[in-house]
Amino acid sequence: MNDNNAVRIALTKGRLEKDTVGLFEKMGYDVSELRDKGRRLILNIPGQNIEVVLAKAADVITYVELGACDMGVVGKDTILEHGGQYYEIADLGFGRCRFALAGKKGTDFYGGVGVKTVATKYPAVTRHFFESKRMDVDIVKIEGSVELAPLLKIADGIVDIVETGTTLKENGLEVIEDVVPISARLIVNTVSMKLKKDRIEALSDEMLKALDR
Ligand code: PRP
Repeated sequence: MNDNNAVRIALTKGRLEKDTVGLFEKMGYDVSELRDKGRRLILNIPGQNIEVVLAKAADVITYVELGACDMGVVGKDTILEHGGQYYEIADLGFGRCRFALAGKKGTDFYGGVGVKTVATKYPAVTRHFFESKRMDVDIVKIEGSVELAPLLKIADGIVDIVETGTTLKENGLEVIEDVVPISARLIVNTVSMKLKKDRIEALSDEMLKALDR
């Protein structure tokens, strides 16, 4: 566990980082170091005894699971795909999007016979979705721009993140079915939750209060 006195929180680099820094600012924290970070990856919030670590989504979970960070802000998409042992204590409400099954416009994904092929960056989420339907599919793991797979005819459909729907639309694809809604979640290391309970709960309460919900 992170045994220094500070509460160390890992933020998912990019949009969730920006939204969380905006939230910290709303809470009255001095976020100057977070805004003017250069290439630094561990930052301080002066006067708060909070250390901020910037990492890729899956690594946020790894650092929290291992106890290198007490808390983390990460998307439900990564939580669903990664799994693991930690507490998910709050839905922060930002970073809203959804997982959806999509395919080429006008094609009947569920029609016909034979096992369908589905391309995705999220094989665990995809497997779980089709298992819940008791439908056998072949899953192809793609690293990015999954929308290419049906266009290049290597898949009948994709399971991917849809936010505005623009990427699907501009590539002649459409949503066939929503899979699950996604938003940013606050996660906590299981040991930190015991040893730093008061500070973690205070920070989480303060964050939720600043979200105006
Ligand atoms: C995500 C997702 C879609 C797109 C959806 O990709 O995989 O491609 O955003 O957003 P939209 O519905 O607003 O168009 P990302 O930009 O993360 O890049 P990637 O495909 O390389 O992962």
